[in-house]
Amino acid sequence: MKKVLVATEKPFAPAAVAQIKEVLDKANYELVLLEKYTDKSELLKAVENVDAMIVRSDKVTKEVIDASNNLKIVIRAGAGYDNLDLEACTAKNVVAMNTPGQNSNAVAELAIGMMISIARGNYNGKAGTELRGKKVGIHAYGNVGRYVAQIAKGFGMDVYAYDPFVDKDLVKKDGVIQLDTAEELYSTCQYISLHIPANDKTKKSIGFDLLSKMPKNGTLVNTARKEVINEEELLKVFAERDDFRYVSDLTPECADEIKEKYEGRFFFTPKKMGAQTAEANINAGVAGANQIIDFIENGNTTFKVN
Ligand code: 3PG
Repeated sequence: MKKVLVATEKPFAPAAVAQIKEVLDKANYELVLLEKYTDKSELLKAVENVDAMIVRSDKVTKEVIDASNNLKIVIRAGAGYDNLDLEACTAKNVVAMNTPGQNSNAVAELAIGMMISIARGNYNGKAGTELRGKKVGIHAYGNVGRYVAQIAKGFGMDVYAYDPFVDKDLVKKDGVIQLDTAEELYSTCQYISLHIPANDKTKKSIGFDLLSKMPKNGTLVNTARKEVINEEELLKVFAERDDFRYVSDLTPECADEIKEKYEGRFFFTPKKMGAQTAEANINAGVAGANQIIDFIENGNTTFKVN
């Protein structure tokens, strides 16, 4: 019987685990569950004798891959796979996949939710502002960016995008105005919703040059990764502009300084919450389980990223 480890430091909703189990049961695969683990050693032990593994933002390092004896496939139940050591996977002949699109609506709803919250002064009792009629710039028009655009249009926002890799016709068909440079996007839009992946090229790429260009009440909404922000330069923008605001799904390293000095101009989630809905957990978890079965039984490598 093939064994599938679901290793989630931040667990899926119980309904998602139940549905993953159902899919695996049908294929006669066994579910091995490791949730809320607090020490890496628990993961190293759990991975030893399984054939496949599903994770979220859990770090799948070379050490984890090397601790496995039978591992054939690792699924990142989600979009960003910066937590997987792809070289280590490839070196051990382990296929790595993500589940693109499955949790995107949840992340997009959080991005818009954080925009509303900061526009209303985090519900502090004072008069805030509305989103209608404001310009929002989508930085990277992938699955999440596209949902943000759809919802923002529903709110009556003017939607712009910058993404050199996306099909221009698709953006146009969505009624979104595509700009040619990131500089143009940041200098045009009061709200920027960030959706770039974290990789060697993008880490620390969002800093003073772009953020200082934003119009009055410039607000950066980060549901991507904290690593893409140049935090030293972020602090410089906070210090130089008393209208700049930053909301982020995850607390930045420099949160203490922001909290101390810039009250009312930020909102940070304590844990990554973008994909933390029952629906997103079910979509991504079940897709992951199906991808494992389809790979092991039929060799389907559609969502392979290594
Ligand atoms: C993703 O890349 O899919 C999101 O950041 C969600 O991450 P999570 O599964 O750790 O919540």
